[in-house]
Amino acid sequence: MRVLGIETSCDDTSVAIYDNKHGLIYDKTLNQDIVHSCFGGVVPELAARSHINQLIFLIQKSIKKLQYHVRYNKNKKIVDLIAYTAGPGLIGSLLVGATMGCTLSCSWNIPCIGVNHLEGHIFSVMLQKNKPTFPFLSLLVSGGNTQLIYVFEIGKYKILGETLDDAVGNVFDKVAQQLNLKYPGGPKLSQLAKFGKKSNYYFPRPMIKSLNFNFSFSGLRTYTENIIKTSQKTFQNQANIAKAFEDAAIETLVLKCKYALKKTGLNTLVVCGGVSSNLVLRYQLKKLMSSLYGNIFFAKKKFCTDNAAMIAYTGYLKSKKYHSFVSNSIFVNPKWT
Ligand code: KG4
Repeated sequence: MRVLGIETSCDDTSVAIYDNKHGLIYDKTLNQDIVHSCFGGVVPELAARSHINQLIFLIQKSIKKLQYHVRYNKNKKIVDLIAYTAGPGLIGSLLVGATMGCTLSCSWNIPCIGVNHLEGHIFSVMLQKNKPTFPFLSLLVSGGNTQLIYVFEIGKYKILGETLDDAVGNVFDKVAQQLNLKYPGGPKLSQLAKFGKKSNYYFPRPMIKSLNFNFSFSGLRTYTENIIKTSQKTFQNQANIAKAFEDAAIETLVLKCKYALKKTGLNTLVVCGGVSSNLVLRYQLKKLMSSLYGNIFFAKKKFCTDNAAMIAYTGYLKSKKYHSFVSNSIFVNPKWT
């Protein structure tokens, strides 16, 4: 079975082809950083417009690649299923991918399926040989979400806790902006923090004493921004602040994971979403899981941020399990959880 995946939920345009025999045949993501960087964040209208041009280009490229594969294939169908991101995300951006997916599905006379973007992130770790087995705990950390999810099996999840305000990736980006780092600032802040030294700064670890699995990062954001406004603007001092902020955010995530693992009795942790490429987070969570004799899985770096490979793969898993979910009508839900 071959699945064409389309991802346009925010500001990354991505197309991938997953084949259950050969793995990923095609996967390409184009970002829109150049469009949004001067605004310091994603402008929804511009994101949707950029998707239109970039998506057509990527679809054409992917079809060329497919034609090469199909020449050697007795089954002359180009693809068997189209999977597109149906939510959550920006409505205009989602509609571009959904319309493209459903149009191709009508003209090729094949089914298409709307995939949940967050579910895609969870299964991004399965795009590699070494896969986790169910059940497991998933820490989803991205620009729009911070969630701890009990994953029983495909399609069966329980959100144990989530952020009550800002998502951790968004806070990385906003703090980075205050430090005059260009959008998307999360990875740049982390680079700057490498030069940071242990200093007098000690930032709050929000909600680590509360007996639940929720997060709150807006207070840490305000605290950090106030420190930045009133402190020396030297490189070393800015790096020290970046380090103190990163340490606080990461320690909060690690302590919440530890609490959730203890309460659920699970011993496998799957970490996904854009922030999961953060090296300090990876190091600290690996340390935690080795102290608990548990297993930990991360997606490959290029599949941590938004990508169509995870959408194609999740579409494949879901269509295999629930044939009734597959439909040809356009469906998007910007607030789909
Ligand atoms: O998953 P993703 O591409 O988008 C959403 O679905 O939201 O995640 C993007 C987020 C951005 O906020 C970005 O700053 C953050 O992930 N991010 C990082 C790092 N790399 C990406 N945050 C901290 N450290 C990193 N190394």
